[in-house]
Amino acid sequence: MSKMGNLVRSGNIRKPNETMRLIITTFVGIVFGFLLGISFPTLSLTKMNLPSSLLPSIDLTYIEDKYSSLSTQALYDAWSSLKGNKGSSTQLHKFNDSKIWVPTNPRGAERLPPGIIESESDFYLRRLWGLPSEDLTIKPRYLVTFTVGYDQKNNINAAVKKFSENFTIVLFHYDGRTSEWEEFEWSKRAIHVSVQKQTKWWYAKRFLHPDIVAPYDYIFMWDEDLGVEHFDAEEYLKLVRKHGLEISQPGLEPNKGLTWQMTKKRDNSEVHKVTEERPGWCSDPHLPPCAAFVEIMATVFSRDAWRCVWYMIQNDLVHGWGLDFALRKCVEPAHERIGVVDSQWIVHQGVPSLGNQGQAESGKAPWEGVRQRCRKEWTMFQDRIATAEKAYFEAMGIDPPNSTAR
Ligand SMILES: *[C@@H]1O[C@H](CO)[C@@H](O)[C@H](O)[C@H]1NC(C)=O
Ligand SMILES: *[C@@H]1O[C@H](CO)[C@@H](O)[C@H](O)[C@H]1NC(C)=O
Ligand SMILES: *[C@@H]1O[C@H](CO)[C@@H](O)[C@H](O)[C@H]1NC(C)=O
Repeated sequence: MSKMGNLVRSGNIRKPNETMRLIITTFVGIVFGFLLGISFPTLSLTKMNLPSSLLPSIDLTYIEDKYSSLSTQALYDAWSSLKGNKGSSTQLHKFNDSKIWVPTNPRGAERLPPGIIESESDFYLRRLWGLPSEDLTIKPRYLVTFTVGYDQKNNINAAVKKFSENFTIVLFHYDGRTSEWEEFEWSKRAIHVSVQKQTKWWYAKRFLHPDIVAPYDYIFMWDEDLGVEHFDAEEYLKLVRKHGLEISQPGLEPNKGLTWQMTKKRDNSEVHKVTEERPGWCSDPHLPPCAAFVEIMATVFSRDAWRCVWYMIQNDLVHGWGLDFALRKCVEPAHERIGVVDSQWIVHQGVPSLGNQGQAESGKAPWEGVRQRCRKEWTMFQDRIATAEKAYFEAMGIDPPNSTAR
């Protein structure tokens, strides 16, 4: 009896009354199942000869395997009540299914009645019990993803705290270490995707299809080495909305050696959308890197912008170099819809974490090979865009606009 007490306690059942009821119910269930078992030793659902028209498209063997922990009788009862509730199902099946063809359905789903189609998904976690409609106490409206290695856990822990419960958190693990993160409370509600030695854009292309992340108003795609002391995500989004930014990033602390003027944080400013660069760097003040430009380390996309950008990400170009110059192709007018939020800013710490995941070759350090590939990809990406645009304009029989030059 004391053993049983332990068992029940470990199941977190506290009230003694309930405990007693559970024990009795279980006991009765066991006895009943046993009696049933000896009365019909070979009873099996598949052999029960249910009229197949009642159970049109369900493989009974599969069901039986899946629910083998239930008693056969319980399963049969469940079937019976299902039949009872859906008296019309027999009739429904007589209807010639092959008559359904809806060309406006998603490609491949034309045979389905539109009412059953769920063309979009989400990252909401659900329970295994209760009513589905009561699963979610909160439906996060925003998504933040970090591409992480465990070595950066303290940095990520600090960053995650700047994102409220209105955010779904996704971690892409490039070092294969996931269970270690369980020390953080928030890790339990996060989505963990573990694939070794891949980059942010590789994960994004595979796991953040616009139809999957459709419920989120904004998507933060962040690196792991960002200092967030002066950043708050909800405040950031207020400014993004106020200034109509479709693609944005927080300003970067200017004291570090930064590549671009555009992404430098400015004092006494909420948001900026244009900048001046070194002489000769900008062919047009409305074009990158003087406007319509943010970097790819801490990018924030609106739902609509992401729906376009995802399609531009190439499966084989994993570092995303050059993507920052092309983001503007997804929003219009780009020099007004792309910008940097100055009053919620971050520090780029420049930890060469993924670079270390490279491979040492011909006497060169791993990071050198990675850097080389980054540059190569940038060239390839530029070439592909130029070729694609040229092909389009030629096919349309029109001269390309001058501004597509870059
Ligand atoms: C169902 O539709 C197919 C194709 O249109 C047809 O060949 C078949 O005879 C139909 N069956 C019934 C029962 O109407
Ligand atoms: C979460 O979103 C709701 C609805 O927009 C808002 O009222 C609430 O303040 C947000 N939570 C935080 C912590 O900002
Ligand atoms: C595009 O460039 C050509 C040659 O440089 C020039 O003649 C033309 O006016 C330009 N068109 C526009 C719309 O700026």
